[in-house]
Amino acid sequence: MRHLISTRDLSHAEAVGLLDTTIDMVDVRSRDIKKLPTLRGKTVANVFFEDSTRTRLSFEAAALGLGADVMTFTAQGSSVSKGESLKDTLQTLEAMGAEFIVLRHSNSGVASTVTNSGWVESHIINAGDGTHEHPTQALLDAFTMRARLLGDDGRGKDLGGISVAIVGDILHSRVARSNIWLLRTLGATVTLAAPQTLLPRDIDEWGVSTVSTLDDAIDLKPDVVMTLRVQKERMSSGFFPSESEFSSLWGMNVSRLKRLAPTALVMHPGPMNRGLEISGEVADSPQSTVTEQVANGVAARMALLYTLRGDSR
Ligand code: NCD
Repeated sequence: MRHLISTRDLSHAEAVGLLDTTIDMVDVRSRDIKKLPTLRGKTVANVFFEDSTRTRLSFEAAALGLGADVMTFTAQGSSVSKGESLKDTLQTLEAMGAEFIVLRHSNSGVASTVTNSGWVESHIINAGDGTHEHPTQALLDAFTMRARLLGDDGRGKDLGGISVAIVGDILHSRVARSNIWLLRTLGATVTLAAPQTLLPRDIDEWGVSTVSTLDDAIDLKPDVVMTLRVQKERMSSGFFPSESEFSSLWGMNVSRLKRLAPTALVMHPGPMNRGLEISGEVADSPQSTVTEQVANGVAARMALLYTLRGDSR
């Protein structure tokens, strides 16, 4: 592996291998000295053309955890406002020593444009491209499921036999797409539940089943309910009548939580709209993995950087 653009590019063995390496990184992070020297002398550039809290800080923590130096670029306040192109921006960062480029951009497909272009030599990690993909979120989500549902027995295993319901704004969600491809590779069963207006048109080609209400999805007693943020910034017009209607039909609330097995998990990639797609009580309940996902995100990204470093051109 040289880059990570899409979870579709991961083989079963690569995916399980990354989850296993994540266990080792969780272990590193629980030690007194929470660092490995693997990337000492290397530079990771975080290149963020779109807003982010967790993903950017998480990659920063992961790079520092492997001893790398970190450069952080955010489009706001940069020469992008003077018309500098993506190509020139990336080449500038590489000229300053970057060997890993973690890229977030609002254009779907931009990460593979970069790897196909030959503009830079760095390892490219897609940290979210438009509504297309967010592969490291899917890795940390799969790791969180395996850790919580299989515990210490998880090493070497995939997610065969585990059922996952993904709920809400699937149309605009790169998290849903990356999760679906990875969960399928790992053998999980995936069901999507969303209002018709928030389901992509090409859903029949995705190899997943759909149900038309969240309550139908809950009746299937999934092991995991993955809630998604309603992405208001990507909505040009009304995709649902009102927020209160959305939360009553599609929001994960306590009465729905009670209908799940006590071992079932409720996930959310963050940032959450509390009271819209997930209620505050559910988000703060022991079955919620929201903060665990964030903690595992650092280890999962350490595992990825660690794995990519072995493949130099
Ligand atoms: C997601 C993103 O930006 O794609 N957040 C994240 O990375 N944790 C999901 C979202 O914005 O809803």
